[in-house]
Amino acid sequence: MHMNPFPAIFAILHIVTHVHATHPAGRYPTRTIAGVSVIDTPLVRAAHDLARDHGDVHIYRHVMRSWLFGAIMIGRNETLSKTIDLEVHAVSVLLHDLGWDRTSNSPFVSPDRRFEVDGAIAARSFIRNHRDGARWEERRVQLVWDAIALHTEPRIAWFKEPDVAAVQKGVGMDFEGPGFGVTSEEYNAVVGEFPKQGFRNSLNQTMIWLCQTKPRSTYDNFIQPWGDRYVQGYRADGNEQVFDTIFLNLP
Ligand SMILES: *[C@@H]1O[C@H](CO)[C@@H](O)[C@H](O)[C@H]1NC(C)=O
Ligand SMILES: *[C@@H]1O[C@H](CO)[C@@H](O)[C@H](O)[C@H]1NC(C)=O
Repeated sequence: MHMNPFPAIFAILHIVTHVHATHPAGRYPTRTIAGVSVIDTPLVRAAHDLARDHGDVHIYRHVMRSWLFGAIMIGRNETLSKTIDLEVHAVSVLLHDLGWDRTSNSPFVSPDRRFEVDGAIAARSFIRNHRDGARWEERRVQLVWDAIALHTEPRIAWFKEPDVAAVQKGVGMDFEGPGFGVTSEEYNAVVGEFPKQGFRNSLNQTMIWLCQTKPRSTYDNFIQPWGDRYVQGYRADGNEQVFDTIFLNLP
């Protein structure tokens, strides 16, 4: 389970460790991945390894692209650079899809919760159980929880803390293309290092699996169309039940 199935990827990452970068929460070591400078702490490395070991290679690459897009966006924007906690950002993005872990007996996937909530709960316990994370103040843990729980809800996430919004925007760019100050050249360089090939099918199968295994967690969000189109017997009547219940309990 915890072996590294993609050693070749790491051989070509051109990882360079740099001196410390300035940051609101202090000074952090950095490294360069696909031309992008990112925070490099033991906690971030552990989050990276956890993501790599609990998702297929396509999901892993999606996670890495989302991190790098977000890091470019933050680095380009003075306001964001001054406000966003880069370690909170990194840990949130790296762990945002733990709820997609289809390895058997995944410790993260529940039988009933939305996958975003599974990821948020998993990330919170990962932080608390890590030597350095155990010393985090509660607000940082809360930001990670919120950023992961809301990463598919831009209509909420964009109006929360900048850290929460940044996670959603970085992830969103993987689907919607470059934006928020990220140029096409930078975008393509990241995609070149972590190619998208295979993600389409992996994503498709993962969404279908969620609709099959816990349909109730998919009715009121972006996953529902997979159930409607591809899953026999799927009925997204959850919202109607909510509607009925509301009026049932109002005189
Ligand atoms: C920096 O980010 C903030 C928050 O998202 C945004 O309002 C602002 O327009 C950005 N600034 C630039 C120069 O892109
Ligand atoms: C998703 O998977 C289903 C079932 O395997 C398949 O019929 C469908 O064509 C796939 N959709 C896309 C967009 O790849």
